[in-house]
Amino acid sequence: MFESLRAVPADPILNLSVLYRQDTNPNKVDLGVGVYKDEAGHTAIMEAVSRAQEQILVEEDTKSYVGMAGSKRFCDLLSQITLGANHQVLTDQRVAIAQTPGGTGALRVLADFINVAKPNATVWLGDPTWANHFPIMQSAGLEVKQFPYYNRATKTLDFDGMLATLQTQTKAGDVILLHGCCHNPSGADLSLDQWQTVAELIQAKGLVPYVDIAYQGLGEGMDEDAAGLRLMADSVPEMVIASSCSKNFGVYRERTGTAIIISSNADQAKIAQSQMNSVIRANYSMPPSHGALAVETILADPKLKQMWRDELKTMRKRIKDLRSQLVDAIKAEGVEQDFSFIERQKGMFSFLGISAEQVDQLVNEHSVYLVGSSRINIAGLNQRNIAYVAKAIAAVL
Ligand code: LMR
Repeated sequence: MFESLRAVPADPILNLSVLYRQDTNPNKVDLGVGVYKDEAGHTAIMEAVSRAQEQILVEEDTKSYVGMAGSKRFCDLLSQITLGANHQVLTDQRVAIAQTPGGTGALRVLADFINVAKPNATVWLGDPTWANHFPIMQSAGLEVKQFPYYNRATKTLDFDGMLATLQTQTKAGDVILLHGCCHNPSGADLSLDQWQTVAELIQAKGLVPYVDIAYQGLGEGMDEDAAGLRLMADSVPEMVIASSCSKNFGVYRERTGTAIIISSNADQAKIAQSQMNSVIRANYSMPPSHGALAVETILADPKLKQMWRDELKTMRKRIKDLRSQLVDAIKAEGVEQDFSFIERQKGMFSFLGISAEQVDQLVNEHSVYLVGSSRINIAGLNQRNIAYVAKAIAAVL
Protein backbone atom coordinates (compact mmCIF):
# COMPACT_ATOMS: atom_id res chain seq x y z
CA MET A 1 0.00 0.00 0.00
CA PHE A 2 2.73 2.45 0.90
CA GLU A 3 4.96 1.77 -2.12
CA SER A 4 3.18 4.32 -4.27
CA LEU A 5 3.99 7.14 -1.84
CA ARG A 6 6.55 9.78 -2.78
CA ALA A 7 8.39 11.91 -0.19
CA VAL A 8 6.95 15.34 0.55
CA PRO A 9 9.35 18.29 0.13
CA ALA A 10 10.85 19.53 3.42
CA ASP A 11 8.77 22.14 5.29
CA PRO A 12 9.93 25.56 4.02
CA ILE A 13 10.09 27.02 7.54
CA LEU A 14 10.79 24.19 9.99
CA ASN A 15 13.53 22.65 7.82
CA LEU A 16 15.64 25.80 8.26
CA SER A 17 16.35 24.78 11.87
CA VAL A 18 17.68 21.44 10.65
CA LEU A 19 19.98 23.08 8.09
CA TYR A 20 21.12 25.67 10.64
CA ARG A 21 22.05 23.00 13.18
CA GLN A 22 24.13 21.14 10.58
CA ASP A 23 26.08 24.27 9.55
CA THR A 24 29.57 24.39 11.10
CA ASN A 25 30.23 28.08 10.29
CA PRO A 26 30.85 29.81 13.67
CA ASN A 27 29.25 33.00 12.31
CA LYS A 28 25.97 31.32 11.32
CA VAL A 29 22.78 33.24 12.09
CA ASP A 30 19.29 31.75 12.40
CA LEU A 31 16.59 34.14 11.17
CA GLY A 32 14.30 31.27 10.15
CA VAL A 33 11.57 29.79 12.34
CA GLY A 34 9.45 32.32 14.25
CA VAL A 35 10.65 31.83 17.80
CA TYR A 36 11.70 34.69 20.05
CA LYS A 37 15.36 34.71 21.03
CA ASP A 38 17.07 36.85 23.66
CA GLU A 39 20.39 38.71 23.36
CA ALA A 40 22.23 35.42 23.93
CA GLY A 41 20.35 33.87 21.00
CA HIS A 42 18.47 31.63 23.41
CA THR A 43 14.72 30.94 23.57
CA ALA A 44 14.56 31.06 27.35
CA ILE A 45 11.58 29.97 29.47
CA MET A 46 9.82 33.13 30.68
CA GLU A 47 10.28 33.68 34.42
CA ALA A 48 6.51 33.86 34.99
CA VAL A 49 6.15 30.49 33.25
CA SER A 50 8.93 28.95 35.39
CA ARG A 51 7.22 30.19 38.57
CA ALA A 52 3.85 28.87 37.39
CA GLN A 53 5.43 25.49 36.63
CA GLU A 54 6.90 25.33 40.15
CA GLN A 55 3.46 26.01 41.54
CA ILE A 56 1.88 23.36 39.30
CA LEU A 57 4.45 20.80 40.42
CA VAL A 58 3.30 21.30 44.01
CA GLU A 59 -0.41 21.75 43.44
CA GLU A 60 -1.39 19.52 40.52
CA ASP A 61 -2.96 16.43 42.03
CA THR A 62 -4.23 14.47 39.03
CA LYS A 63 -3.32 13.53 35.50
CA SER A 64 -6.83 12.46 34.67
CA TYR A 65 -8.35 13.61 31.34
CA VAL A 66 -9.33 17.22 30.76
CA GLY A 67 -12.53 17.65 28.72
CA MET A 68 -12.68 17.98 24.94
CA ALA A 69 -12.66 21.79 25.21
CA GLY A 70 -9.88 21.71 27.82
CA SER A 71 -9.82 23.71 31.03
CA LYS A 72 -12.85 25.94 31.62
CA ARG A 73 -10.75 28.41 33.61
CA PHE A 74 -8.16 28.64 30.84
CA CYS A 75 -10.89 29.17 28.23
CA ASP A 76 -12.57 31.91 30.30
CA LEU A 77 -9.29 33.73 30.91
CA LEU A 78 -8.21 33.42 27.28
CA SER A 79 -11.53 34.65 25.90
CA GLN A 80 -10.94 37.81 27.96
CA ILE A 81 -7.33 38.13 26.79
CA THR A 82 -8.43 37.84 23.16
CA LEU A 83 -11.72 39.72 23.13
CA GLY A 84 -11.25 42.05 26.11
CA ALA A 85 -12.86 41.44 29.50
CA ASN A 86 -16.24 43.03 28.86
CA HIS A 87 -16.76 42.46 25.18
CA GLN A 88 -20.42 42.39 24.23
CA VAL A 89 -20.15 38.97 22.57
CA LEU A 90 -19.01 37.53 25.93
CA THR A 91 -21.77 39.27 27.87
CA ASP A 92 -24.28 38.02 25.32
CA GLN A 93 -22.89 34.47 25.63
CA ARG A 94 -22.36 34.24 21.90
CA VAL A 95 -18.92 32.63 22.30
CA ALA A 96 -17.89 28.97 22.07
CA ILE A 97 -14.26 28.31 22.99
CA ALA A 98 -11.86 25.40 23.26
CA GLN A 99 -8.29 24.99 24.47
CA THR A 100 -6.34 23.55 21.54
CA PRO A 101 -2.91 22.05 20.80
CA GLY A 102 -1.31 25.39 19.81
CA GLY A 103 -2.54 27.93 17.29
CA THR A 104 -2.14 25.36 14.53
CA GLY A 105 -4.48 23.00 16.37
CA ALA A 106 -6.99 25.84 16.67
CA LEU A 107 -6.71 26.61 12.96
CA ARG A 108 -7.40 22.98 12.07
CA VAL A 109 -10.29 22.58 14.53
CA LEU A 110 -11.93 25.71 13.14
CA ALA A 111 -11.32 24.65 9.54
CA ASP A 112 -12.97 21.28 10.31
CA PHE A 113 -15.81 23.08 12.06
CA ILE A 114 -16.37 25.34 9.04
CA ASN A 115 -16.38 22.30 6.79
CA VAL A 116 -19.11 20.74 8.95
CA ALA A 117 -21.19 23.94 8.78
CA LYS A 118 -20.61 24.44 5.07
CA PRO A 119 -18.86 21.56 3.29
CA ASN A 120 -16.14 22.66 0.85
CA ALA A 121 -16.57 26.32 1.80
CA THR A 122 -14.14 28.71 0.17
CA VAL A 123 -11.54 30.27 2.43
CA TRP A 124 -9.68 33.32 1.14
CA LEU A 125 -6.06 33.65 2.23
CA GLY A 126 -3.98 36.78 1.75
CA ASP A 127 -1.10 36.79 -0.69
CA PRO A 128 1.21 36.24 1.10
CA THR A 129 0.22 34.36 4.23
CA TRP A 130 1.73 31.78 6.60
CA ALA A 131 2.72 28.83 4.37
CA ASN A 132 0.97 26.33 6.65
CA HIS A 133 -2.44 27.97 6.16
CA PHE A 134 -2.78 26.21 2.80
CA PRO A 135 -2.38 22.57 3.91
CA ILE A 136 -4.41 23.18 7.07
CA MET A 137 -7.41 24.51 5.14
CA GLN A 138 -7.10 22.03 2.29
CA SER A 139 -6.73 19.03 4.62
CA ALA A 140 -10.02 20.04 6.22
CA GLY A 141 -11.73 19.95 2.81
CA LEU A 142 -11.98 23.70 2.24
CA GLU A 143 -11.30 25.34 -1.08
CA VAL A 144 -8.54 27.95 -0.96
CA LYS A 145 -8.46 31.19 -2.96
CA GLN A 146 -6.25 34.22 -2.53
CA PHE A 147 -6.67 37.98 -2.30
CA PRO A 148 -3.79 40.47 -2.74
CA TYR A 149 -2.40 41.64 0.60
CA TYR A 150 1.17 42.92 0.35
CA ASN A 151 2.72 44.88 -2.48
CA ARG A 152 6.27 43.61 -2.78
CA ALA A 153 7.33 46.63 -4.86
CA THR A 154 6.13 49.36 -2.49
CA LYS A 155 6.67 47.14 0.60
CA THR A 156 3.32 48.19 1.98
CA LEU A 157 -0.15 46.74 2.24
CA ASP A 158 -2.01 46.43 -1.07
CA PHE A 159 -5.22 47.56 0.56
CA ASP A 160 -6.92 48.67 -2.65
CA GLY A 161 -6.16 45.34 -4.32
CA MET A 162 -7.42 43.47 -1.27
CA LEU A 163 -10.68 45.39 -1.15
CA ALA A 164 -11.28 45.14 -4.89
CA THR A 165 -10.87 41.34 -4.84
CA LEU A 166 -12.99 40.85 -1.73
CA GLN A 167 -15.64 43.15 -3.18
CA THR A 168 -15.86 41.61 -6.63
CA GLN A 169 -14.83 37.96 -6.32
CA THR A 170 -16.25 36.64 -3.05
CA LYS A 171 -19.73 35.28 -2.44
CA ALA A 172 -21.86 35.11 0.71
CA GLY A 173 -20.63 32.37 3.06
CA ASP A 174 -17.00 32.64 1.92
CA VAL A 175 -14.48 32.78 4.74
CA ILE A 176 -11.82 35.54 4.88
CA LEU A 177 -8.66 34.74 6.83
CA LEU A 178 -7.03 37.80 8.40
CA HIS A 179 -3.98 38.01 10.66
CA GLY A 180 -4.92 39.64 13.98
CA CYS A 181 -1.58 41.45 14.25
CA CYS A 182 2.13 41.14 13.40
CA HIS A 183 1.39 39.76 9.93
CA ASN A 184 3.34 36.61 9.16
CA PRO A 185 5.35 36.84 6.88
CA SER A 186 5.21 40.55 5.91
CA GLY A 187 4.97 42.49 9.19
CA ALA A 188 2.44 44.79 7.44
CA ASP A 189 -0.73 45.15 9.51
CA LEU A 190 -4.13 46.67 8.80
CA SER A 191 -4.73 50.01 10.54
CA LEU A 192 -7.85 50.27 12.69
CA ASP A 193 -9.55 52.32 9.95
CA GLN A 194 -8.74 49.54 7.50
CA TRP A 195 -10.14 46.91 9.88
CA GLN A 196 -13.31 49.00 10.00
CA THR A 197 -13.53 49.13 6.21
CA VAL A 198 -12.97 45.38 5.91
CA ALA A 199 -15.54 44.72 8.65
CA GLU A 200 -18.13 46.76 6.74
CA LEU A 201 -17.38 44.89 3.52
CA ILE A 202 -17.58 41.52 5.28
CA GLN A 203 -20.87 42.48 6.88
CA ALA A 204 -22.35 43.82 3.65
CA LYS A 205 -21.36 40.74 1.63
CA GLY A 206 -22.27 38.10 4.22
CA LEU A 207 -18.70 36.82 4.53
CA VAL A 208 -17.27 35.11 7.62
CA PRO A 209 -14.06 36.53 9.15
CA TYR A 210 -11.50 34.00 10.36
CA VAL A 211 -8.81 35.73 12.42
CA ASP A 212 -5.49 34.05 13.16
CA ILE A 213 -3.77 35.81 16.08
CA ALA A 214 -0.48 34.12 16.92
CA TYR A 215 1.62 37.12 18.00
CA GLN A 216 -0.65 39.12 20.31
CA GLY A 217 1.49 41.36 22.50
CA LEU A 218 4.55 41.36 20.24
CA GLY A 219 3.44 44.34 18.13
CA GLU A 220 2.12 47.27 20.17
CA GLY A 221 0.63 45.62 23.29
CA MET A 222 -1.86 42.92 24.28
CA ASP A 223 -4.94 45.15 23.90
CA GLU A 224 -3.61 47.24 21.02
CA ASP A 225 -2.80 44.11 18.99
CA ALA A 226 -6.31 42.70 19.46
CA ALA A 227 -8.12 45.98 18.70
CA GLY A 228 -8.80 45.05 15.07
CA LEU A 229 -10.33 41.67 15.82
CA ARG A 230 -12.39 43.15 18.68
CA LEU A 231 -13.74 45.76 16.30
CA MET A 232 -14.55 43.00 13.83
CA ALA A 233 -16.34 41.04 16.58
CA ASP A 234 -18.43 44.17 17.28
CA SER A 235 -19.56 44.35 13.68
CA VAL A 236 -20.39 40.86 12.42
CA PRO A 237 -22.85 38.13 13.47
CA GLU A 238 -20.44 35.21 12.99
CA MET A 239 -16.68 34.93 13.25
CA VAL A 240 -13.95 32.46 14.22
CA ILE A 241 -10.62 33.18 15.91
CA ALA A 242 -7.52 30.98 16.32
CA SER A 243 -5.14 32.25 18.98
CA SER A 244 -1.77 30.98 20.13
CA CYS A 245 0.13 31.20 23.44
CA SER A 246 3.31 29.86 21.80
CA LYS A 247 4.98 33.22 21.31
CA ASN A 248 3.51 35.57 23.92
CA PHE A 249 3.99 33.02 26.73
CA GLY A 250 6.94 31.28 25.05
CA VAL A 251 5.34 27.85 25.53
CA TYR A 252 5.94 26.71 21.94
CA ARG A 253 6.47 23.00 22.58
CA GLU A 254 3.63 22.73 25.10
CA ARG A 255 1.11 23.35 22.29
CA THR A 256 -1.28 25.87 23.82
CA GLY A 257 -3.91 27.86 21.97
CA THR A 258 -7.62 28.53 21.70
CA ALA A 259 -10.30 28.16 19.05
CA ILE A 260 -13.08 30.71 19.45
CA ILE A 261 -16.38 30.72 17.59
CA ILE A 262 -18.71 33.71 17.75
CA SER A 263 -22.29 32.88 16.77
CA SER A 264 -25.23 35.18 16.16
CA ASN A 265 -26.95 34.29 19.47
CA ALA A 266 -26.50 32.29 22.69
CA ASP A 267 -28.49 29.25 21.51
CA GLN A 268 -26.46 29.04 18.33
CA ALA A 269 -23.26 29.32 20.39
CA LYS A 270 -24.24 26.20 22.38
CA ILE A 271 -24.72 24.28 19.16
CA ALA A 272 -21.39 25.58 17.86
CA GLN A 273 -19.67 24.43 21.08
CA SER A 274 -21.11 20.92 20.71
CA GLN A 275 -20.03 20.71 17.07
CA MET A 276 -16.55 21.98 17.90
CA ASN A 277 -16.24 19.44 20.72
CA SER A 278 -17.26 16.71 18.31
CA VAL A 279 -14.58 17.78 15.81
CA ILE A 280 -12.02 17.70 18.64
CA ARG A 281 -13.16 14.27 19.85
CA ALA A 282 -12.73 12.83 16.38
CA ASN A 283 -9.29 14.41 16.02
CA TYR A 284 -7.35 14.08 19.26
CA SER A 285 -10.03 13.67 21.99
CA MET A 286 -8.72 16.48 24.14
CA PRO A 287 -5.83 18.94 24.26
CA PRO A 288 -2.57 18.52 26.19
CA SER A 289 -2.83 20.17 29.59
CA HIS A 290 0.52 21.44 30.82
CA GLY A 291 0.99 24.64 28.79
CA ALA A 292 -2.58 25.79 29.37
CA LEU A 293 -2.26 25.09 33.08
CA ALA A 294 0.87 27.26 33.20
CA VAL A 295 -0.87 30.06 31.28
CA GLU A 296 -4.00 30.01 33.45
CA THR A 297 -1.87 29.92 36.62
CA ILE A 298 -0.18 33.13 35.42
CA LEU A 299 -3.36 34.89 34.33
CA ALA A 300 -5.21 34.02 37.55
CA ASP A 301 -2.45 35.40 39.80
CA PRO A 302 -2.05 39.22 39.74
CA LYS A 303 1.67 39.08 40.64
CA LEU A 304 2.54 36.46 38.03
CA LYS A 305 0.40 38.24 35.48
CA GLN A 306 2.29 41.49 36.03
CA MET A 307 5.60 39.66 35.79
CA TRP A 308 4.54 38.10 32.49
CA ARG A 309 3.31 41.45 31.12
CA ASP A 310 6.66 43.06 32.00
CA GLU A 311 8.61 40.27 30.34
CA LEU A 312 6.46 40.50 27.24
CA LYS A 313 7.00 44.27 27.15
CA THR A 314 10.78 43.73 27.23
CA MET A 315 10.50 41.28 24.31
CA ARG A 316 8.32 43.67 22.32
CA LYS A 317 10.66 46.60 22.91
CA ARG A 318 13.70 44.54 21.97
CA ILE A 319 12.12 43.55 18.65
CA LYS A 320 11.32 47.19 17.88
CA ASP A 321 14.85 48.28 18.73
CA LEU A 322 16.32 45.52 16.55
CA ARG A 323 14.19 46.70 13.64
CA SER A 324 15.73 50.20 13.85
CA GLN A 325 19.20 48.83 14.44
CA LEU A 326 19.04 46.59 11.37
CA VAL A 327 17.97 49.51 9.18
CA ASP A 328 20.88 51.59 10.54
CA ALA A 329 23.36 48.73 10.19
CA ILE A 330 22.42 48.19 6.53
CA LYS A 331 22.76 51.93 5.90
CA ALA A 332 26.17 51.87 7.58
CA GLU A 333 27.29 49.33 4.96
CA GLY A 334 26.79 52.04 2.33
CA VAL A 335 23.65 50.45 0.88
CA GLU A 336 21.60 52.99 -1.08
CA GLN A 337 18.43 50.89 -1.25
CA ASP A 338 15.83 52.01 1.29
CA PHE A 339 15.18 49.43 4.03
CA SER A 340 13.36 51.82 6.37
CA PHE A 341 10.11 49.89 5.80
CA ILE A 342 11.49 47.32 8.27
CA GLU A 343 11.16 49.93 11.01
CA ARG A 344 7.53 50.61 10.17
CA GLN A 345 6.46 46.95 10.19
CA LYS A 346 5.29 45.03 13.24
CA GLY A 347 6.09 41.85 15.12
CA MET A 348 8.71 39.24 14.45
CA PHE A 349 8.79 39.22 10.66
CA SER A 350 9.60 41.31 7.60
CA PHE A 351 10.55 40.44 4.06
CA LEU A 352 13.97 41.72 3.03
CA GLY A 353 12.48 42.03 -0.44
CA ILE A 354 15.41 40.31 -2.18
CA SER A 355 15.31 37.61 -4.85
CA ALA A 356 15.31 33.85 -4.27
CA GLU A 357 18.89 33.75 -5.65
CA GLN A 358 19.98 36.39 -3.15
CA VAL A 359 18.32 34.40 -0.35
CA ASP A 360 20.26 31.33 -1.51
CA GLN A 361 23.47 33.35 -1.39
CA LEU A 362 22.74 34.55 2.14
CA VAL A 363 22.18 30.97 3.25
CA ASN A 364 24.92 29.20 1.28
CA GLU A 365 27.68 31.83 1.24
CA HIS A 366 27.06 33.65 4.53
CA SER A 367 25.23 31.07 6.70
CA VAL A 368 22.43 33.56 7.34
CA TYR A 369 19.28 31.41 7.44
CA LEU A 370 15.98 32.90 6.31
CA VAL A 371 12.83 31.67 4.57
CA GLY A 372 12.97 31.43 0.75
CA SER A 373 10.46 34.28 0.43
CA SER A 374 13.15 36.50 2.09
CA ARG A 375 11.24 36.55 5.39
CA ILE A 376 13.50 37.19 8.37
CA ASN A 377 12.79 36.63 12.05
CA ILE A 378 13.88 39.95 13.56
CA ALA A 379 14.13 38.35 17.02
CA GLY A 380 17.02 36.20 15.76
CA LEU A 381 19.21 39.31 15.55
CA ASN A 382 21.39 40.45 18.45
CA GLN A 383 24.31 42.78 19.16
CA ARG A 384 26.82 40.11 18.17
CA ASN A 385 25.36 39.24 14.77
CA ILE A 386 23.56 42.34 13.50
CA ALA A 387 26.58 43.93 11.80
CA TYR A 388 27.50 40.58 10.23
CA VAL A 389 23.94 40.18 8.88
CA ALA A 390 23.94 43.74 7.50
CA LYS A 391 27.29 43.10 5.78
CA ALA A 392 25.98 39.86 4.31
CA ILE A 393 22.85 41.60 3.00
CA ALA A 394 24.96 44.36 1.48
CA ALA A 395 27.15 41.72 -0.17
CA VAL A 396 24.29 39.98 -1.95
CA LEU A 397 22.44 43.09 -3.17
C1 LMR B 1 6.76 30.55 11.78
O1 LMR B 1 6.02 31.04 10.90
O2 LMR B 1 7.99 30.53 11.68
C2 LMR B 1 6.15 29.97 13.02
O3 LMR B 1 4.78 30.18 13.03
C3 LMR B 1 6.55 28.58 13.24
C4 LMR B 1 5.90 27.61 12.30
O4 LMR B 1 5.34 26.63 12.78
O5 LMR B 1 5.98 27.81 11.08
